[in-house]
This record gives sequence, C-alpha cells and structure tokens, in this order.
Amino acid sequence: MTENVTPERLSQVHEQALSDFSSIDSLESLQVFTAKVVGKKSSLGSWFKELKALDVEAKKELGPKLQQFKTYWEQACVAKQNELEAAALNQKLKSDFIDVTQSYPAQKGALHPLSQVQRHIETIFTGMGFEIADGPEVETEWHNFDALNVPANHPARDMQDTFFVSSAHEDSHQNSVLRTQTSNIQIRKMLEKGAPVRIIAPGRVYRNEDVDATHDAMFYQVEGLVVDKDISVSHLKGTLETMLSAVFSKPMKIRIRPGYFPFVEPGLEVDIWWEYTDKNGEEKGRWLEFCGAGMVHPNVLRNSGVDPEEFSGFAFGFGLTRLVMMKYGIEDIRLLSSNKREFLQQF
Ligand code: PHE
Repeated sequence: MTENVTPERLSQVHEQALSDFSSIDSLESLQVFTAKVVGKKSSLGSWFKELKALDVEAKKELGPKLQQFKTYWEQACVAKQNELEAAALNQKLKSDFIDVTQSYPAQKGALHPLSQVQRHIETIFTGMGFEIADGPEVETEWHNFDALNVPANHPARDMQDTFFVSSAHEDSHQNSVLRTQTSNIQIRKMLEKGAPVRIIAPGRVYRNEDVDATHDAMFYQVEGLVVDKDISVSHLKGTLETMLSAVFSKPMKIRIRPGYFPFVEPGLEVDIWWEYTDKNGEEKGRWLEFCGAGMVHPNVLRNSGVDPEEFSGFAFGFGLTRLVMMKYGIEDIRLLSSNKREFLQQF
C-alpha cells in the first residue's frame, strides 16, 4: 500500500529504513530489505509515477529528493551485500582452513598391554611348536567341570565362584556356565584332534568375585597342554622357564611344589623368583605364586578319548592378566579394563 509522496513522508520512510538497515545481519534479510525499499514493487516506483502528475514547483522540490533517496539506498544495499558476502567468505576460510605446511603429530594407536603380551606369548609358544587354540566362553558344565574330573557337588565348583547361565531351552539337560578357566580347551582340543597335542589357549575367564584392586570378575588366562609319549614334569619346567625368560627378557627362575587341582595328578604349583628394588633402594627377591599345573589326570585323558596307557602329558594355566600386571608394575587390575587414555598411552 502506498501513500501519496510528500517530503515529510519521504523522510519518515528514510528514517524507518535507516533503523531497519542497522539490524540487517544476513544476506537473506538484506534481500528482503532491498526489495522493500528500492525494489520494483517498492513504494519508490509509484512515487516516481506520482511525481509526473505534480506541478513544476513540487516536482523541483521532490524530484531530486526521490532521486537522492534512490541512489542512497541502492548504494547502501550494494555496500552491505559486499560486506556480508566478505564476512561469510572469511568465516568459511577460517573454518575450512588447512595449513598444508604444518606437520600434525600422528595420533598413533597401540595394542592394549594384554594384547601385546598375549601376542608375545603366542610367538614364543609357536616357536616351540605349539598351536594356538580357542574355544567358547559360554561353556557346558561338562567341558568346564565334569570332563576335567570335577564331578557335580565337588567343592572345586564353589572354589571358582561360577557364573551359571540360564538355559535358553527349557528341555536342555546341559547347563551352561561362563567358563571359570581355560582348561575347557584341553578337553575340546583332545576330543577334536586326539594325541599327540601341543597347544596353548589364551582367553577370558569369569568368576563371581568381589571386584577390588587385585580381583576382577573377568580376567585372562593362558592354558597350556602337551600330550605325547614320555612327557614328564621336566618338560613342563623347561617350557615355563623358556616362556618367562622371553617375556621378561632375562633368565627367570621357577620352583615347583605340590598343589591340588582335580584334573592333574600330581598337581603342582609353580612359583616364580621375583627380583625387585625395595623403597630403600635395596635389591630384593621373593617367590611369587605364578600358576597351577601338573600331569594330566588319566580320567581327563580318558574323558577326551585319549588312552592314558599310551600317552601322558602336562598342563598348566596361568593368569595372563596377572603376568601383565607383574611385567609393567600395574597395581590395580581395574585399570586394564578402564579404557583410560592416560593409562593406555603408556604402552
Ligand atoms: N585351571 C586352573 C585354574 O584356573 C589352573 C590349572 C590349569 C591347573 C592346568 C592345573 C593344570 O586355577
């Protein structure tokens, strides 16, 4: 809607335009403003038409004012457009900036310390002719216990604080557990391959523990099994010493004493001679429990289809998690599953 143009009306419109103009902050709002003030459909067009009908005096007064208004706002709008376009470009240059001459520090990832030591151990054992074996973490009670000479109601089932998994099938006769030990792989591998067999089986195991700095409900073990003719405890000792010396990059001493595990006879405990510097700077050493081991029980061989008259073997199972903690002096087991960058970046 246009009103008849008068000098007062023109200066009013100009004042209003000045105030609207000051709040323009985008190309879109500038476009709307420009159309309204100097565009084809603006009042300005009809004012020029009106001008023709006015008398000479009025024309003389108003004509230059209209022209002035037109020029002023056309220039102002173009200037504003340039300004806004330049600002937009600068913004984009800033946000898209890539300094191709700058060298960025490489964000290099690394394997988790558990993976690093596990791989090292796998290399050591494959070098001694072992195969790497694997198996399920949700295991039947039979593979985790019965076949390993741990019958139902045997206290060893409580010893290992088992997580039981409720069966998906109501009619299933086999209960499942989260494996409490990697010893299930002894059974699985012998059933699959028979004897002779020479494997290690690294993997996760689960126990219903109260979690603290030295206990977790999930940790890693490495199982070892050698079944062949004329296998003795001295093979076990040599194998573990070789492995430990490689892991710690220096000759390591172990000692073997009697222990009890239902699936080995005799059952053994292996200790490791641990040298350290105490807080007074004195060189010290002490025996640390390292792992359970022993000669494979004839019942276990039989349960796995291997003739105990023909074959004998040794088995061991150590905590990979604990070994990693010893190697790196990690005092809290929870750090290993914490996913903390400050911790992990050290490895
Ligand atoms: N499975 C035993 C444990 O978890 C360790 C072990 C393995 C002992 C093999 C003897 C032989 O405690």
